[in-house]
Amino acid sequence: MRILSGIQPSGKLHIGNYFGMMKPALELQEKGEAFLFIADYHALTTSKDPAELKQNTTDVALDFLACGLDPTRTTFFRQSDIPRLLELTWMLSTITPLGLLERCHSYKDKVAKGITPTHALFSYPVLMAADILAYQSNIVPVGRDQKQHLEVTRDLAIKFNNEYGDIFTIPEASIQESVAVVPGIDGQKMSKSYDNHILLFDGKKATKKRIMKIITDSKELEDPKDPDTCNVYLLYKLFAEEQKVAEMADNLRKGGYGYGHAKKQLFEDLWEYMTPFRENREKLEQDLDYVNDVLIDGAKRASKVADKTFDAAKKAIGL
Ligand code: ADP
Ligand code: TRP
Repeated sequence: MRILSGIQPSGKLHIGNYFGMMKPALELQEKGEAFLFIADYHALTTSKDPAELKQNTTDVALDFLACGLDPTRTTFFRQSDIPRLLELTWMLSTITPLGLLERCHSYKDKVAKGITPTHALFSYPVLMAADILAYQSNIVPVGRDQKQHLEVTRDLAIKFNNEYGDIFTIPEASIQESVAVVPGIDGQKMSKSYDNHILLFDGKKATKKRIMKIITDSKELEDPKDPDTCNVYLLYKLFAEEQKVAEMADNLRKGGYGYGHAKKQLFEDLWEYMTPFRENREKLEQDLDYVNDVLIDGAKRASKVADKTFDAAKKAIGL
C-alpha cells in the first residue's frame, strides 16, 4: 500500500497542521510505503517572496524531521525536484473539464481572501492530481478541506484510464474525522490565514500568550461549564492522556474550575508534549546540509517511481 501526502511550505506549521495532517501521516508511515513531499510548486500560487519560499521550505523539512519523520522509511522530497510532474499536469489538464475546477471551494475561498486569481491558482487541483497519480498512491491523508481536491483527482484518474487505458491507481482520501478540524484560538478552524493559530515551534512565552488568548464564553469561575463547547478542552483532547482529558471535562462540568485553570493546564501539557520534538529541531537546525541531503535522496527515490508513470502516460496519450 502506498501512502502519499504533501504540504505547502507557506509558513511555519501550527498545531492544526500537526494534528490534522502531520501526525496521521507519520502514523501511516508504519502501515505502508510512505511518500511525503513539500509542495513548493503549489506554494508559488500564493507566495511571491523567493527568500521566504526557500526559508519556508527549510522550515517544513525541519518540522517534519523533528516530529518523527524517518527518512529511511518515508520518501521525503521537494515537489520541484521532480520537474517532470509538470508534464503529467499538462496531460491531465487536457482532459480536465473547466466546470470541475470552477466548482472547487478552495479556489473561491482563496480569491475571496484577496489572493490574485491566476491561472495557476485555478488549476491548482490538476497539479495536485498529478502529485497523487504520479506515485500510484493508494491512500492520501489530508485534512477535510482537501477532500474535494481528492475527488477531482479520482475523477481525472478515472477519465484518463477510460480514455487511454489503465495507467493510474485510483486513490482514496484518509481523513481522520476525530481531528478533522482543529479549532483556532477564536474557535474557527485553525489557520495561519486567520491568525488564530498556535505554532508548533514557538518560544515558551509566545506559546503561553497565545493559549491565554483562547476565546471562551463568559461563565464565571464557579459556574458549571460544557467541555464540548470549550475551545481549550477541544485542543487539550487532541493530545493529552485519556485520564487527564476526563479529569478536565469533570472539572469543567463541576464548576469552581475556571477557563484560566484549563488554559494553564493546556499550556503546560502541550509544552511538555512538544519537548522531545523541540530538542530534535534544535539539533537539526545545526545541520542543514543533512536536511538538504535527505530531500535530494528522497527526490531520487521518488523519481524512480514517478518516471514509470510519466513514461506510461506519455505513451498512452500518443506523445
Ligand atoms: P493553513 O490553513 O494554516 O494555511 P494549510 O492549508 O497549509 O494550512 O494546511 C496544510 C495541511 O494541514 C492540510 O492537509 C490541511 O488539511 C491541514 N490542516 C490545516 N489546518 C487544519 C486544521 N485547523 N485542522 C485540521 N487540519 C488542518
Ligand atoms: N493542497 C494541499 C494543501 O494545501 C497540499 C498538497 C499538494 C497535497 N499536493 C498534494 C496534499 C497531494 C496531498 C496530496 O494542504
